[in-house]
Amino acid sequence: MAQQDACTLLDDEHNEAIAMFEQYKAAHDARRRQVIASEIRQALLVHMQIEEEIFYPAFQRATGDQELLQDANKEHAEARELLAKIEGDRQDARLMLELEDAILHHVNDEREKMFPKARATKNLDLMGLADQLQARKAELLGTVAA
Ligand SMILES: [Fe+2]
Ligand SMILES: [Fe+2]
Repeated sequence: MAQQDACTLLDDEHNEAIAMFEQYKAAHDARRRQVIASEIRQALLVHMQIEEEIFYPAFQRATGDQELLQDANKEHAEARELLAKIEGDRQDARLMLELEDAILHHVNDEREKMFPKARATKNLDLMGLADQLQARKAELLGTVAA
């Protein structure tokens, strides 16, 4: 059973991503930067996928909110586009900063708009969703859920 609700689980991942961007900016060695960039990439892709497969559809079913969902999906698409560009030019630190900006903006939308609305919605089982998110994440990372 999850110890925390789905919003807290997802927001912990946001904090981890933000911390990884800080590490990226603090790293001066090009190889170290590449390692951190690929960690960021994997973390973001898995995070977006579990949101899109599990959290967003449940949020939409429970709240009927189309607008927040459209915004979120658009921001995920933008992040994926940037990730694809970064994959094509691994030395481009400017693109990583652009990605950081986009992610900070998106995280803020989820934190300030989507999560408060999810928590205020009675028919949304946030503990159950946390279990599903965790299980799917473990599957995507190729590990066994604890
Ligand atoms: Fe998201
Ligand atoms: Fe998120």
